[in-house]
Amino acid sequence: MPGTAEPTGGAHATTPATTRHYLTVASLTPDEFARLISLARRMKANPAPWRDAIPAGKLALLFDKPSTRTRVSFEAAGVNLGMHPMMLRPDELQIGRGEPPQDTARVLSRMVDAIAWRTFSQAKMEAFAAYATIPVINALTDEHHPCQALADLMTIEESVGSLAGRRLAYVGDGNNVAHSLIEAAALAGMDLALATPEGYEPDATILSMARARAAETGGSIEVVRAPNEAVRGADAVYTDVWTSMGEEQEREARLRAFQGYVVTPRLMELAAPEAIFLHCLPAHRGEEVEESVIEGRWSRVWDEAENRLWTEQAVLYALITGDWSGER
Ligand code: CP
Ligand code: NVA
Repeated sequence: MPGTAEPTGGAHATTPATTRHYLTVASLTPDEFARLISLARRMKANPAPWRDAIPAGKLALLFDKPSTRTRVSFEAAGVNLGMHPMMLRPDELQIGRGEPPQDTARVLSRMVDAIAWRTFSQAKMEAFAAYATIPVINALTDEHHPCQALADLMTIEESVGSLAGRRLAYVGDGNNVAHSLIEAAALAGMDLALATPEGYEPDATILSMARARAAETGGSIEVVRAPNEAVRGADAVYTDVWTSMGEEQEREARLRAFQGYVVTPRLMELAAPEAIFLHCLPAHRGEEVEESVIEGRWSRVWDEAENRLWTEQAVLYALITGDWSGER
């Protein structure tokens, strides 16, 4: 139901203690992360029991940046659950004319059951969510892409098997996708090695918090310079674009900095014999990945993209109903 609970936490409206957002992977416990993947896998294997699980629910989708997978997966997942998704562009909303995000959060909380938002600033996302009394889901910021990481680890589990102790390599930019992957690997007890050029390392705070978490789960997070070093023996090799949305003015400098960080067949041959290749997409063939890798025997990118649908559905169901186990 749209949030009408009394706010907690002082003079300003804040999220009630019973409402959960999904703004970063690190906001989940290892058990919650595993439950969401398990729920998504059960929804994929047998979709029928979740059809119309949230009848006449309302889902607001706010996208300040372009999107194919995230936008369509949220709409499709909402429809699967019996919800009515509303795709809202900022230029159609007063937020695009300067209405404070906190006001938009409070108004939408009175009308809909969940909000997914793709925007630039993580701080703005967190300020918005603090004023929402319904679940807010981060559909990508410059710092995090938590929905992507769920689909990524679901795909690894489907293709390779149980996650704990698996070796994951990330080659390229220490960006939003890398940050969420770092946090996810830590929760799942995986050994993640990232190879990034100098100056493009992941955020130091995200890294140190994830390392502390990995110390509890038996995982590890390592940052190295050489792609060979990260990829050797890996069960999965991951890359993302060199120039993310909002960084277009840096493109030329980035093209120079990332030479040598291309995922090639030769690099994939250093990974484990059955290793898989993942990419959040959209991909730039001939930049971060060669055509023969993304179209080759290693690639699981289409399964990974499909899994956005099932993980989005699991997140919506768990956050809106409060039922994370989804026994049906
Ligand atoms: N991977 C991903 O989030 O893709 P979109 O930008 O198309 O949503
Ligand atoms: N790092 C990319 C991911 C796109 C899904 C970006 O932010 O543009």
